[in-house]
Amino acid sequence: MTARNLLLLPGDGIGPEAMAEVRKIIAYMNAELGAGFTTDEGLVGGSAYDAHGAAISESDMEKALAADAVLFGAVGGPKWDDVPYEVRPEAGLLRLRKDLQLFANLRPAICYPALANASSLKPELVEGLDILIVRELTGGVYFGEPKEIIDLGNGQKRGIDTQVYDTYEIERIAGVAFELARTRNNRVCSMEKRNVMKSGVLWNQVVTETHKRSYSDVKLEHMLADAGGMQLVRAPKQFDVIVTDNLFGDMLSDVAAMLTGSLGMLPSASLGAPDVKGRRKALYEPVHGSAPDIAGKGIANPIAMIASFAMCLRYSFNMIAEADNLEKAIAEVLDSGVRTGDIMAEGCRQVGTVEMGDAILAAFKKLSA
Ligand code: NAD
Ligand code: IPM
Ligand code: MN
Repeated sequence: MTARNLLLLPGDGIGPEAMAEVRKIIAYMNAELGAGFTTDEGLVGGSAYDAHGAAISESDMEKALAADAVLFGAVGGPKWDDVPYEVRPEAGLLRLRKDLQLFANLRPAICYPALANASSLKPELVEGLDILIVRELTGGVYFGEPKEIIDLGNGQKRGIDTQVYDTYEIERIAGVAFELARTRNNRVCSMEKRNVMKSGVLWNQVVTETHKRSYSDVKLEHMLADAGGMQLVRAPKQFDVIVTDNLFGDMLSDVAAMLTGSLGMLPSASLGAPDVKGRRKALYEPVHGSAPDIAGKGIANPIAMIASFAMCLRYSFNMIAEADNLEKAIAEVLDSGVRTGDIMAEGCRQVGTVEMGDAILAAFKKLSA
């Protein structure tokens, strides 16, 4: 049987609480489904800083590079607000993305039928919502140089971040978006700000050329990113796949998360380019952060983390039936009225993290039998 090597990086805050629920699913799959996962664990974020003085150690970076897939919880928290910028918890996540070259971040926003009422929008606007944000993840203003604060010597300082995109970076993320659109409703909306940004002008041109050259069967639309944000809350169901840069993708995916009811619902996959054998480096993480306000209380919603593991089954291990079953298990549990506090509604039963994980595992077991 093929070995399936996972590296688990639970991180900080609610990260470890959510990861514990995935660990139970992995244990079941190994024991009963012969899945053959081997798991290793590492530290990332504030917990790594406390142990090693760095947001991720070199040995954990090596493990991440060697793993078939990385499962990542969340990083950050007020405890590390004052640590130097270079070693802040978030730097561990950014290094993983950059060093593993995970340029394609898939952030699906699906509104489970049972949660249409939990959205901040009217139920009819989000019922049946199924959009996919494809966020460029290794370029743009997150990584462009110069990136610094300089002293101007007159009592003033200047903070500089640089937005940079090269043709190849736009081409490859556009390719991912078009390929995925073909497996869905065949529509891509590209978002940038070509009206004020040179990188936006190039983004628009390269997406258009890539479309013309290789994907003219897919319907392509362009939108300015600010208008795109507005359209996402006005009429979200008009979208199928949205492709956008690193920073716009960060913001638009948080907006999309709330359409589905809670940040605690949104999973993500970060993928590299396939190698000659078709294998790609990958990291799976919830879109939410470490939620310091609820950490340690046992009330975090583990669904984003569990759904991230479902994406791992699908994209890294081609375990499509298992991924489908796990997603179905989540939907069934929501249908049955079981809810964590963030998605609680009248007439439902409120549970904590562990109970939600147990309910999903029980439903998954039934579906897998
Ligand atoms: P956050 O996502 O941690 O929390 C925002 C709000 O959503 C909070 O009220 C929180 O309680 C709620 N929430 C988030 N996930 C939830 C869940 N699973 N269940 C129930 N409620 C949930 O964002 P923030 O407060 O802006 O950031 C906190 C820290 O997390 C910061 O240090 C930030 O840098 C970091 N962060 C990390 C990641 C990551 O690790 N990928 C992502 C975003 C933010
Ligand atoms: C996300 C987070 C990260 C980002 C932070 C924690 C570095 O907000 O994954 O959405 O800005 O990309
Ligand atoms: Mn974010």
